[in-house]
Amino acid sequence: MKTYKLATLSVAMAFGAALVGANVAHAATLAISCGAVGQELELCKTGAEAWAKKTGNQINLISTPNSATERLALYQQLLAAGAADVDVFQIDIVWPGILSNHFIDLSAQAKDVLNNYFPAIVKNNTVDGKLVAMPWFTDAGLLYYRKDLLAKYNVQPPQTWQELTDIAKKIQDGERAAGNDKMWGFVWQGRAYEGLTCNAMEWVASYNGGTIVDEKGKVTIDNPQAATAITAAAGWVKTISPEGVLNYTEEEARGVFQSGNAVFMRNWPYVWSLAQGPESAIKDKVGVSVLPKGGADGRYAATLGGWQLAVSKYSKNKELATDLVMYLTSSEEQKRRAIQGAFNPTIEALYKDPEVLKAAPFMGELYDTFVNAIARPSTATGTKYNQVSNEFWNAVHEVLSGSAKADANLAKLASSLKRMSRGGRQW
Ligand code: GLC
Repeated sequence: MKTYKLATLSVAMAFGAALVGANVAHAATLAISCGAVGQELELCKTGAEAWAKKTGNQINLISTPNSATERLALYQQLLAAGAADVDVFQIDIVWPGILSNHFIDLSAQAKDVLNNYFPAIVKNNTVDGKLVAMPWFTDAGLLYYRKDLLAKYNVQPPQTWQELTDIAKKIQDGERAAGNDKMWGFVWQGRAYEGLTCNAMEWVASYNGGTIVDEKGKVTIDNPQAATAITAAAGWVKTISPEGVLNYTEEEARGVFQSGNAVFMRNWPYVWSLAQGPESAIKDKVGVSVLPKGGADGRYAATLGGWQLAVSKYSKNKELATDLVMYLTSSEEQKRRAIQGAFNPTIEALYKDPEVLKAAPFMGELYDTFVNAIARPSTATGTKYNQVSNEFWNAVHEVLSGSAKADANLAKLASSLKRMSRGGRQW
């Protein structure tokens, strides 16, 4: 097993003001683990620093791996050891079931504000009546496209995956002929990790092929629509998507798109503020829409993602840690993060806030996509979710890389998942 080390960044941020007078006796140093994808770390830092300054405490910022899968492995290692090194954990929307035993119940502190948050996320974060984590930001898979190139080739954003494939090929070929030999049609997350589960669930759901395991725990993945969806995606590799996509996470895909070398990209909302940022080669050339349907009878499908903040039960400063979590997940802080980083709020009212909508218009335009995003089967599969996802992304990755056929691999996957859950009855 890979061993992960904690990277402690910019360590203790002591504030002069905090060290005088009565505060000295109570000042504590709290460690918070934050994601480091795009602007995540920077915004976590400024938010946590503001809290530290206000309360006279200090912050240790713990940077974590970009891959959600590696991040989970790191957390499991720390938590299994009962480590008190991290007080606040940033956890994925699919982890409450896996990690709930390690976190304290936040319901008492959250009770006056909880109604403001999306009920589905609150429900997701509640395990056996315990509020394991506060919703911080929500995610849904989006289609980014080059507005300028679609206009140049006189095409509209695609409604189906077939249309996307055709447009991507046409523009890729045209742009290569015009001199950009680095141009690709479509970049996405194809590495064997949680991000591929998110992408592949979108393909499958868009062809009405379900969600791997349904809400009752029944294994549904072995179906022809799912096989069609994954086979179609395998056809993109080396035609409209570089072979390297099989090792892309979010940031590799963004790198290609943001440097101007892809027509389409599947990614999460955070990319918006970077693609529109001053350094970006494609500033003002970016459109955002829903991901395509799987054919005329298909549906628009975006996988629900997002991150929460939880307090470790091994923390020596649970009260302060809870205060930090309530601060970071508050409406003011979520608004700042939405404006500066395009992190989608988990507080419904912020979707009507003019400043938020000005900074990230897609939050209003695609509101339905966010509230109707499709959940991965983490509630039904509970502590086994990561194993389920791991088997799914591996099965899909083999098809994408050409070493297996979709129908055969999905049949194998289904038998394995049925064994894992005693026929889908007991996860
Ligand atoms: C994003 C999502 C998260 C998902 C991850 C996969 O960070 O918010 O839910 O698991 O991507 O890469």
